[in-house]
Amino acid sequence: MANATLDTPLSRSLGCRYPIIQTAMGWVATPELVAATCNAGAFGFLACATSRPQQAEADIRKVTELTDRPFGVNFLMEQPGAAEIVDAIVRYGAKAASYSRSPKREFIDKLKAADILCVPTVGAARHAEKAVELGADIIVAQGGEGGGHTGIVPTSLLLPQVIDAVDVPVAAAGGFHSGQGLVAALAYGADGIAMGTRFMLTAESPVPDPTVDRYFKASVMDVPVTTQVDGLPQRVVRNELVAELEASSSVALLIRALRSALEYRKLSGASIGELISAAFSMRKNDKLTRSQMIMAANAPILIKRAMVEGVPSEGVLPSGQVTGVIDDRPTCAELIERLMTEADGALARLNQH
Ligand SMILES: Cc1cc2nc3c(=O)[nH]c(=O)nc-3n(C[C@H](O)[C@H](O)[C@H](O)COP(=O)(O)O)c2cc1C
Repeated sequence: MANATLDTPLSRSLGCRYPIIQTAMGWVATPELVAATCNAGAFGFLACATSRPQQAEADIRKVTELTDRPFGVNFLMEQPGAAEIVDAIVRYGAKAASYSRSPKREFIDKLKAADILCVPTVGAARHAEKAVELGADIIVAQGGEGGGHTGIVPTSLLLPQVIDAVDVPVAAAGGFHSGQGLVAALAYGADGIAMGTRFMLTAESPVPDPTVDRYFKASVMDVPVTTQVDGLPQRVVRNELVAELEASSSVALLIRALRSALEYRKLSGASIGELISAAFSMRKNDKLTRSQMIMAANAPILIKRAMVEGVPSEGVLPSGQVTGVIDDRPTCAELIERLMTEADGALARLNQH
């Protein structure tokens, strides 16, 4: 049962029962996972960063069919079709939009004009300040142990810096999986937590069993940061493919990336013009080199191989280090109930001191 003291500015502004966010994960945060999260009292973000606008719209509609609770949508402001995705977010009345790299003022203004909360993820205090200047309503502060693209500052050091730097609600991310962690984040002064990997390893997550087994087998030490997937630092489970990418020459990496780009084009239906324009926008905004820009096409294709097709040795498994302490696959409702019970226990222990 929820403890009344865990009602925070984060849960109040998002309109959910508990101050817990399920972050967006490409190929993983499907309408089913998002709806299960929201129905369990937390707040889910739908992953649309690798979707075409039509698919994004269908997924957003599906969430509204599966839950009447508020939910959010994640996208990349530089992806092909981003403007149409913003329109769909507004049209279907999502409660919040999340993004990380390259925020664009025109999209943020449009979302805010429709009362949609802007919830960027940042990995450094100065990025949090910049994000609030641009209109962020809530900040997700992700420490270096977090999954997928990630910074280098650990959560324990980043969190107090971000809390000091901004005066909007802050959700702590990177390494969270338990109610004790939730209470610890609140004790730092955060307003709640955001979890990716923990929600990826739930019953409603679509990730196939062979891939889930690789996550369960990984220890905390088996989840390094590599730049060899798409040119940006990304935390992933070490596997055969990552070893191969790390050992590849830059020419071999570029050839692989070009193959991925062609496959991504087929899959997404984006025109060559759209892909080139997205790539140049990434190059400019994320300050990528030309080879990093080409490598960016790798990530969605290689992640899909593991997360959708279920071939973990040939794909990329984005993950937080927290996978090293997770070995079960509860439903979202069981997970949230467990976290809240643990949080109540942790608070009771603190009150005894
Ligand atoms: C499988 C996977 C896919 C991810 N895909 C995305 C994504 O598409 N967009 C995004 O903003 N973050 C993405 N992330 C990062 C998460 O949303 C979240 O910020 C991170 O997992 C939090 O750290 P944790 O895993 O320690 O909880 C991904 C993470 C994982 C594990």
